Amino acid sequence: MSDHGRLASDGSDASDGGAQRVRLRPTLLSDLDFVIQVETDGRNLPFITPWERTQHEGAVRFPDFRHFIVEAGPGFDAAGFVILQGCRNPHRSVEMKRLVLAHDGQGQGLGRACVRALKLMAFRDLSAHRFWLDVKALNTRAQQLYASEGFVEEGRLRESVRLTGNNADGYDSLIVMSLLDREYQARVALGQESAAVV
Ligand SMILES: CC(C)(COP(=O)(O)OP(=O)(O)OC[C@H]1O[C@@H](n2cnc3c(N)ncnc32)[C@H](O)[C@@H]1OP(=O)(O)O)[C@@H](O)C(=O)NCCC(=O)NCCS
Repeated sequence: MSDHGRLASDGSDASDGGAQRVRLRPTLLSDLDFVIQVETDGRNLPFITPWERTQHEGAVRFPDFRHFIVEAGPGFDAAGFVILQGCRNPHRSVEMKRLVLAHDGQGQGLGRACVRALKLMAFRDLSAHRFWLDVKALNTRAQQLYASEGFVEEGRLRESVRLTGNNADGYDSLIVMSLLDREYQARVALGQESAAVV
């Protein structure tokens, strides 16, 4: 499989079926209406800083990024999108830039499946040394997910983003979290990563 190709959440070839699995396929420009719809859903807006369409177009085209549609369910319908940045980073530090699921698909394990697929992609396909992300302090759901998937808090960028949504006023902090390749390999050895079945 090329690193631009599809990846299933258990690391197997994405042509395999399965109702509870997710797969990631490269985003097409024709997918951007869906991407922007999910990103600007008022229920997601408090947790992210939405991009302009041109930023998404750049991420689809620019090789330092990987922009994927999350597909899930029996028919592998579009369920959200993810963006990696730093895929050509000389320091092998790859960022999980964005992970957003459509509201209807949240709370069913798809986020965890995506994070596992992205870790596999980062460490196996992109040879990352460090896989990192930032998450808003108010986003306790995402923090719990990342912590339970092995990401370690590195520090906080205090009051670095404006609060968004519902006419909110004020600032939130960003929590930087990361996972190193040796930490990931230790999780694989302990059977904590679905990558272990590849
Ligand atoms: C954050 C997000 C990706 C998580 O995906 P998800 O499919 O909803 O989450 P999952 O069902 O995989 O749950 C994973 C873990 O999150 C935590 N979690 C889920 N829902 C939660 C809630 N309502 N409150 C607190 N923690 C919650 C739990 O620890 C859960 O693990 P468990 O099922 O073993 O208890 C998704 O909800 C989303 O897209 N949210 C909006 C955008 C966003 O916040 N993106 C992340 C920006 S950093």
